[in-house]
Amino acid sequence: MRIYENPCVTNENRCAPRSYYIPSGKSEYHLMNGQWRFAFYSRDIDVPEHIENWDTIPVPSCWQLHGYENPNYTNSNYPYPCDPPYIPDDNPCGVYEREFDLKEKWGKVYFVFEGVSSCAFLYINGNYVGFSQGSHLQAEFDITDFVQKGTNTVRAKVLKWCCGSYLEDQDFFRYNGIFRDCYILQRPEDHIGDVEIIPNDKSIHITMDGKANVKIFANDTLLTETAIDREFDYAPENLILWNAEKPFLYTVVLERSGELITIKTGLRKISISSKFELLINGVSVKLHGVNHHDTSATRGWCQSDEDLLTDLKLMKELNINCIRTSHYPPTPRFLQMCDELGFYVVCETDIETHGFVSRYPQQPYSYDVTSNDWLCTKPEWKKEFVERMQRMVETNKNSPCVIMWSTGNESGFGCNHIAMTRWTKARDNSRLVHCEDASRGEPHCADVHSTMYTSPATIEEFALRNNLDMPVFLCEYAHAMGNGPGDVYEYNEMFDKYPKLIGGCIWEWADHVVTDENGVQRYGGDFPGEETHDGNFCSDGLVFANRTLKAGSLEAKAAYQPIKTTLEENKLSVYNRLDFTNLNEYTFRYWVEADGKQIAFFEDALDVAPHETIQLDIPHTTIPCRYGAYLNVRLYKDGREVALTQHKLPCATIEQVQLPAAVFTEDDQSITITGEKFSYRFCKHYGTFTSMIIDGKEQLATKPALSVLRAPTDNDRHIRTFWIKTVPGNTENLDKMHTKIYDCRIEDGVIVVDGSLAGVARAPLFRFTQKITVAIDGTVSVSLSGKIREDAIWLPRLGFEWELPGETKDFTYFGNGPVESYRDMCHAGYIGMHSSNTDSEYVHYVRPQEHGNHCSTKMLQIGGLQFTAEGEMDINVSNYSTAALLKAEHTDELIADGKTHVRIDYKVSGLGSGSCGPQLDEKYQLSEKSLTFNFTIRPVL
Ligand code: GAL
Ligand code: MG
Repeated sequence: MRIYENPCVTNENRCAPRSYYIPSGKSEYHLMNGQWRFAFYSRDIDVPEHIENWDTIPVPSCWQLHGYENPNYTNSNYPYPCDPPYIPDDNPCGVYEREFDLKEKWGKVYFVFEGVSSCAFLYINGNYVGFSQGSHLQAEFDITDFVQKGTNTVRAKVLKWCCGSYLEDQDFFRYNGIFRDCYILQRPEDHIGDVEIIPNDKSIHITMDGKANVKIFANDTLLTETAIDREFDYAPENLILWNAEKPFLYTVVLERSGELITIKTGLRKISISSKFELLINGVSVKLHGVNHHDTSATRGWCQSDEDLLTDLKLMKELNINCIRTSHYPPTPRFLQMCDELGFYVVCETDIETHGFVSRYPQQPYSYDVTSNDWLCTKPEWKKEFVERMQRMVETNKNSPCVIMWSTGNESGFGCNHIAMTRWTKARDNSRLVHCEDASRGEPHCADVHSTMYTSPATIEEFALRNNLDMPVFLCEYAHAMGNGPGDVYEYNEMFDKYPKLIGGCIWEWADHVVTDENGVQRYGGDFPGEETHDGNFCSDGLVFANRTLKAGSLEAKAAYQPIKTTLEENKLSVYNRLDFTNLNEYTFRYWVEADGKQIAFFEDALDVAPHETIQLDIPHTTIPCRYGAYLNVRLYKDGREVALTQHKLPCATIEQVQLPAAVFTEDDQSITITGEKFSYRFCKHYGTFTSMIIDGKEQLATKPALSVLRAPTDNDRHIRTFWIKTVPGNTENLDKMHTKIYDCRIEDGVIVVDGSLAGVARAPLFRFTQKITVAIDGTVSVSLSGKIREDAIWLPRLGFEWELPGETKDFTYFGNGPVESYRDMCHAGYIGMHSSNTDSEYVHYVRPQEHGNHCSTKMLQIGGLQFTAEGEMDINVSNYSTAALLKAEHTDELIADGKTHVRIDYKVSGLGSGSCGPQLDEKYQLSEKSLTFNFTIRPVL
């Protein structure tokens, strides 16, 4: 057996884990990032004694993005046979080498890897130093005996796989190499070892391995300075506690033999109330979280400190207060940034063995842990499991942001999990232990009941179940793949309703992609040599890979926003959802808008303590308007909008004057209707307009058509097989629809059309009657009513698709905008008057799909046409046809046909997060079997 296939040999000569710090003062810190020599072998057994031909590669990096092998995206399937602890005979290997200079050798010298995948053998000046596995964990080696004054050579032999790879089956692109910083430290002979300052809410308690001088600062004020021996306890006067909203940190500086170690600490307490709430410093807190993977649009797993800071600042802008480091520990500096900026962190260790669920193809997908055939159930793997927990905890224990230690992800459940949770609780009982796997076995070995993608209805059941005596936490919910998620708002209403529901983390922060030289985002299956892949399932971020926002990002921001408002009569209640901040730190504005025009405006600083409500009198009367009157509420901090809510106000609708009917002339084929400034032709054969000339200008590129399809979103990935899968079966063939007109006649000045819509090989799906009248000013009134076949599946949408000439790009609408909106993803925008154009409506989802809808729309004006719904409609204006969107798998395959595509829809179904989460809730589905849709089209003159 090779050493790297033995789970009992997780390292050779690696130092015991210690708390993270970078020593300063007399100590030296040499960052080893930069260009290294690099030699790649497709079999580790081919690495020669002397390497002649070197390439160079940057460190940190992933070798698959530098010309060696290709990226491979696999979710849970192992990229090699599942035969632990063995990995394929041909194990690729990258050898890294460079020099470093030591001006003087005066102390102890260490080499630290922050991340190397999957394992590394370290050599200094040709001598073997040691070996380590655990890709995302710190590995420190004492190289004192190997280095000399002057030039030294460091070499790392990095293997693609080792037995530890079985524990690193996370859902991501599989990359290898030295992908995080590595550095050398030179420190005094008697330097400080581990330093422990585990946060509490009373005092700064320091434990270390001997003597030191300590200084403690609050901001720049020195609070105390003294010599200490092993332990020191200091309770600051007027103690300021840390929390994610006000992350106050004290600075501890330790000195021994000229070396300085600076550690920032925050004081805070984590506990669980008798109602199973999560208490931070005694206050019930809801976790408004997101899962963070290290992912870069161009550099794979490599995120620089600046990149990570960008992520965290953007999360703050989205009102996120919690991060799960899925599914491995981040660089410790990420946690230090979270300490500074204020986030509650669920720090997860580097363990996932998801691929076991599919090792026996004849067995259904399941965590068959009773088979004792999972790594978590095997004693010889215990060391691997427990040690990964120990390394994470010891490294990061001083970070106040960490509120839970997590045992990893999707690894079954077994004695090795129990060993991990036991060890963790014994080592650090100030934090909670998270173990999603425990929900399949013994929930009580963790401190929170953690599940993923559980539906709102089921978590409500959890909340009400008396014998569930733990806080309920959704370590993953609201699958943010593509257009969506649509359910994040509803989940949060549920979290707010029940004390026991402490919140959760959206899956996941950013899309994982490989951006090619043309800027096109590539995903699984796009690379030669991927033996197994999971397509674009890696692109499921709340933000795009380049960290631009989508409507789903803003929907999460709204779901997590600091206020909740309700309007009853003329009383506006404003509830402060924040836990530690008075609303007087924000600017509060509200105004009334009728038909998009502001008619009253107020600005206030509201003095509302956390979790309190204030009531405001809103002076309003019933406002006369055509489209609607709304109260808009906004909260700002430092000029930036942090919250928006909206309430509909009563209004007196201004009725449109009914004009007499225009005169029709009819022949065999068509009906012609002309007026002063318009001329329409209606085709009796197809039951639709074929020409609408307004003020001399043709408005139609082709004839409008009834349809029900949308280009499925990623979140439609399961339901789409009932809509458009091509093989025979249960699909409605919505992409191969035929319209049949049975009859078209004029009855009492009304054009009446009877028809149906049916997919190929299917019985008619929708049987309808359309009644059309035209007034002398050219106003067309359409009344569509019909019945959907009783046994039909819920539909993506239903309405009319119009094609307008390509130059018709600008439009105005009164509806939910400016960002795209769907009936379950509509809290980020507001109903009002918006202007837009087809280019800015386009949303560059990694895989092209449905986008750009606006729900709750009353009016759309485009070109010479103004559409107005009697009730509400959904509208969509795009450069792309549904068919084009349907066809393209990547953005560069998306072809515009030069026309403007307009949808006037009775209804568009919601988005949900069914790509991984529960299926779209019934109330957001277009599932009714009978419907009426009335709207008018006015010529714009
Ligand atoms: C979860 C898993 C995540 C990710 C997600 C789907 O089951 O924990 O790592 O795979 O599903 O995107
Ligand atoms: Mg997984």
